[in-house]
Amino acid sequence: MAGRISDEDIALVRERSQIADVVGDYVQLRNAGGGNLKGLCPFHDEKSPSFNVTPTRGMYYCFGCSEGGDVITFIQKMDALTFAEAVERLAQRAGIQLRYEQGGYVPGRQQGERSRLIEVHRVAAEYYVSQLSSPEAAVGRRFLSERGFERVDAEHFGIGYAPNEWEALTRHLMGRGFTSQELLRGGLAAEGRRGPRDRFRGRLIWPIRDITGDVIGFGARKLLDADDGPKYLNTPESPIYHKGSVLYGIDLAKREISKRSQAVIVEGYTDVMALHLAGVPTAVATCGTAFGEDHIKVLRRILFDQGQGEVIFTFDGDSAGQKAALRAFQDEQKFVTQTYVAVQPDGLDPCDLRVKQGDAAVRDLVASREPLFAFAIRSMIARFDLNTNEGKLSALDAVAPVVASIKDRALRGMYAVDLDRWLGIMNERFVVERIQEIAARPTETRPAAA
Ligand code: GTP
Ligand code: MN
Repeated sequence: MAGRISDEDIALVRERSQIADVVGDYVQLRNAGGGNLKGLCPFHDEKSPSFNVTPTRGMYYCFGCSEGGDVITFIQKMDALTFAEAVERLAQRAGIQLRYEQGGYVPGRQQGERSRLIEVHRVAAEYYVSQLSSPEAAVGRRFLSERGFERVDAEHFGIGYAPNEWEALTRHLMGRGFTSQELLRGGLAAEGRRGPRDRFRGRLIWPIRDITGDVIGFGARKLLDADDGPKYLNTPESPIYHKGSVLYGIDLAKREISKRSQAVIVEGYTDVMALHLAGVPTAVATCGTAFGEDHIKVLRRILFDQGQGEVIFTFDGDSAGQKAALRAFQDEQKFVTQTYVAVQPDGLDPCDLRVKQGDAAVRDLVASREPLFAFAIRSMIARFDLNTNEGKLSALDAVAPVVASIKDRALRGMYAVDLDRWLGIMNERFVVERIQEIAARPTETRPAAA
């Protein structure tokens, strides 16, 4: 049975954990006057901030959803932790060594599961980094250098190497007092016939950190021809790793995202690195999964939407990217006016682009972003031959329902005007009326969007 954390230590943890700092790791807070701070509530979806923090009292309260509490409850609710786990997490953060009643502190025995998994990932990340300089890792170092990354870059991002062995990491971690159960729970090892074996072997390793900077998982790229696994392997779902909300680079990018009111979404680990190094420190990537609702939630809390925040997606110009953009019209359109797309026409991803054309080309790519609606409409039009009247009309028929589905009336009107220009019909009224007519019909009877 885990010992109780002493009351004195709990008080100390409360005292040393400034609520504004702790909440500030998750939520962008602004001064709200009267010594209060406010931001977008992390516990419910909202567009204007009703989440209040009162540093002098060490409390938070949301007027929207009535969630409230102190710094410990906040961490408990945010990360789904028990009281003891939340205290441990805050103690770790504040550099406090907790004492447990009934028998002193036994490292690695009494902490909550989350703390143990965070700890095992920290040690694993260190181990992988130490292996990147081994002779065997030459192939990994070559991969990095071919992609324009230097040793300091690898260090900055904490890149490591997983030896091509069955039990290298497992042995290292068990030697440090971690149990096979912990390795399996964290996804660092998988159950083999003779016990746990390393999940990642002979691969380059990217540590994936949560917003507070704790390593919660890894992305691992194949390097060896003999490896018949997928190009990238990621940590599986675990108590601390949820791929639906994980954003690679968020720990490094969060401050800049909130400062610049901009987040750039790229596809890969190397792309995040390339953007940061090229002077776009707001880049993050999903980890082997599509960008979804939970990713948006994470970003919105940092972006502090007041209408001015931008989320920029980079696409490599293939149809997959364009399909993703077209989702804009089917989904709720809640944040669509803050969504932008930057497309690299020759299909280079940001990492390749930086290697071939340099940092400025990467910055230009981001600067060339276009509103999602504009991008989506234009990529639909691109499929038609606009040199003929027939082509123009077919394009209009295909795109009109899409423009008609823009919910904001004013914006819809403006895109109707643009559409006339983009199609080269030169009859604004005709196009606008056609769209109005479709928009006025009940959704079911509208012609389907192409
Ligand atoms: P190169 O093609 O050699 O430049 O490799 P790359 O590292 O640029 O990878 P790529 O552009 O193909 O992939 C970009 C991102 O997609 C990666 O960072 C991964 O997150 C994801 N990804 C690619 N391949 C796989 C795969 O096989 N499995 C999973 N889970 N994710 C992948
Ligand atoms: Mn690539």
